[in-house]
Amino acid sequence: MKILVTGGAGYIGSHTVIELQNAGHEVVVVDNLSYSSEVALQRVAEITGKEVTLYQVDIRDRAGLNRVMDKHSFDCCIHFAGLKAVGESVSLPWEYYDNNITGTLVLLDVMRKYGCKNIIFSSSATVYGDPAVIPITEECPKGQCTNPYGHTKSMLEQIMMDIQKADPAWNVVLLRYFNPIGAHQSGAIGEDPNGIPNNLMPYITQVAVGKLKELGVFGDDYDTPDGTGVRDYIHVVDLAIGHVKALAAIERKCGVAVYNLGTGKGYSVLDVVHAFEEATGVRIPYTIRPRRAGDIAVCYSDPSKAEKELGWKARFDLVDMCRDAWRWQKNNPNGFR
Ligand code: NAD
Ligand code: WQD
Repeated sequence: MKILVTGGAGYIGSHTVIELQNAGHEVVVVDNLSYSSEVALQRVAEITGKEVTLYQVDIRDRAGLNRVMDKHSFDCCIHFAGLKAVGESVSLPWEYYDNNITGTLVLLDVMRKYGCKNIIFSSSATVYGDPAVIPITEECPKGQCTNPYGHTKSMLEQIMMDIQKADPAWNVVLLRYFNPIGAHQSGAIGEDPNGIPNNLMPYITQVAVGKLKELGVFGDDYDTPDGTGVRDYIHVVDLAIGHVKALAAIERKCGVAVYNLGTGKGYSVLDVVHAFEEATGVRIPYTIRPRRAGDIAVCYSDPSKAEKELGWKARFDLVDMCRDAWRWQKNNPNGFR
């Protein structure tokens, strides 16, 4: 298939481009490079041996998207482009709604104008809020999000479902990611956050490489086995392969299909610290801090629907994720800069 990948220079997008190319698909990337580097796609090309066509275009730029669509005829769009920092979204709500909602509305409008009505969307486990059931199945009701970022994901899911309902020619796959970590086994691409990382694994790898002094563990008084928060960490390569598998849902004209992409296993913050130490031999000093606002105690998936319907299952374990995250960070202490 010929696939438009928005946000394809970013963390999950670049890993997905590799898996798409390896599976024989033709890929064109649209990215404004606001939170990523062209270097990521140069590295992708070195890994796959195939060039990646990149258009530096903002998805809010209708004329820019038209130019891309004039040149290429796409079978499907995999839509990663968006802003994703939870804390930042609280202080910059307008920017988040504009980038994520306006951007997606413009993209969808241009897609339908050019007759491409197939989309795979990066949603998030955040739409479940504080989940009503654990493990979380796709039937679990959506919950109350605590921040504008989460609202954009939840609203965009609704927007795409409404558009598909009004025009059944659309096929919409909503992929709800749990906690993607790790990096490509080559160590050449990986997660490259701006400034001090908000998320656990990049924080740990930056402590390990000596850029940060110690990890703060946000709360040890949750109702979990060791008191720290439990999450479903998934290797980014497994997640990327999930997107390739999700093309099958588009091909069978799924209408709307929702899948959790997780491993189904929950690990605590301290489990991750210990797995990292085991995988790398590097000690991670930490101190217990107060809980972080908006955090929930436990979040992990029931990923069986994706296995049953897409034949997809995560293969890598937590030690693999830590080892690969570390290889990337160690080889690239300053990311792509
Ligand atoms: P990322 O920031 O690495 O990638 C996003 C990419 O989109 C970047 O390359 C950025 O430059 C680009 N982009 C942003 N706004 C754009 C715009 N207006 N026009 C064109 N390009 C734009 O983030 P990621 O971790 O790879 O996440 C990809 C998607 O997955 C996002 O939609 C994110 O919300 C979603 N998601 C991520 C996680 C996670 O933990 N990483 C979890 C659930 C969902
Ligand atoms: C994981 C655990 C923290 C950092 C976020 C978004 C979610 C999704 C994935 C996009 C929690 C603890 C963290 C630190 C810590 N993204 N922690 N010290 O919050 O589960 O999910 O990313 O859709 O929407 O909210 O991920 O990596 O920030 O935290 O103790 O320095 O690690 O409290 O228990 P989270 P995370």
